[in-house]
Amino acid sequence: MRLSMKRCLGIALAVNIGLTACNVPAFAQGIEDKVAVCAGCHGADGKPIDKTYPVIWGQQLGYIYIQLRDFKRGDRKNDFMQPMVAQMERDDMLAIAEYFSKKPWPDLGQPRAPKDVAARAVRANGSIGCTGCHLDQFQGDGTVPRLAGQSREYLAKATSDFRTHTRGNNPGMSDLMNATDLDDLTALSDYLAGL
Ligand code: HEC
Ligand code: HEC
Repeated sequence: MRLSMKRCLGIALAVNIGLTACNVPAFAQGIEDKVAVCAGCHGADGKPIDKTYPVIWGQQLGYIYIQLRDFKRGDRKNDFMQPMVAQMERDDMLAIAEYFSKKPWPDLGQPRAPKDVAARAVRANGSIGCTGCHLDQFQGDGTVPRLAGQSREYLAKATSDFRTHTRGNNPGMSDLMNATDLDDLTALSDYLAGL
């Protein structure tokens, strides 16, 4: 039997049963409810509240999903993020990834790298081929993240975490970062932040 919404809400209030009994899961579990908590750190306008926190607005869908999955599996560790995803199912993660991937990338207003730093970064990219995967203009695609305009401090942290294996969810990136000169990587972080 399906009650009319009005009648069901009336009964729910009278006998104090949950509103979900009214067959309105979307009401209690809408995507806006699921993502509300994220704004506390990643920013209500897409600009993270701390420079070491990453931009997730406008990030690639597949990449966001993989990170949420890896935090849940414990392949990527972080004291803030692991509790966030502990109760999430695959469908939640996909819906959340889609939601954020459709948001506009925020302008963090970071300065362009000085000429000599940019030249070093471009040279390093030329020999290592970061853009072979991160694509032209470092926009990323699918499971490869956008790097252009990401927070400088976060980029430096991610680079360092890959090198030390503090971030162990992609051994290929760790190998590559360790095979690259640290000054080149610093130049790349400065350059990418200012793109
Ligand atoms: C208490 C602060 C906090 C909250 C709340 C939070 N995050 Fe995060 N998030 C972080 C931090 C810090 C990192 C970076 C972790 C690291 O350095 O490895 C991060 C990383 C991420 C990443 C990886 C991004 C990348 O570029 O690799 C994704 C995706 C993400 N968060 C999504 C979410 C979503 C979705 C929510 C809400 C369900 C959320 N976060 C809530 C702090 C938070
Ligand atoms: C063979 C392909 C490939 C190459 C080459 C490559 N990357 Fe990546 N990179 C990836 C993938 C895939 C990821 C996502 C890893 C994951 O799922 O955690 C990534 C992640 C990153 C991240 C973390 C971004 C974030 O939001 O946390 C940074 C920073 C990065 N790469 C920088 C670089 C730089 C700088 C170079 C060149 C020196 C480079 N990458 C070359 C494939 C590549």
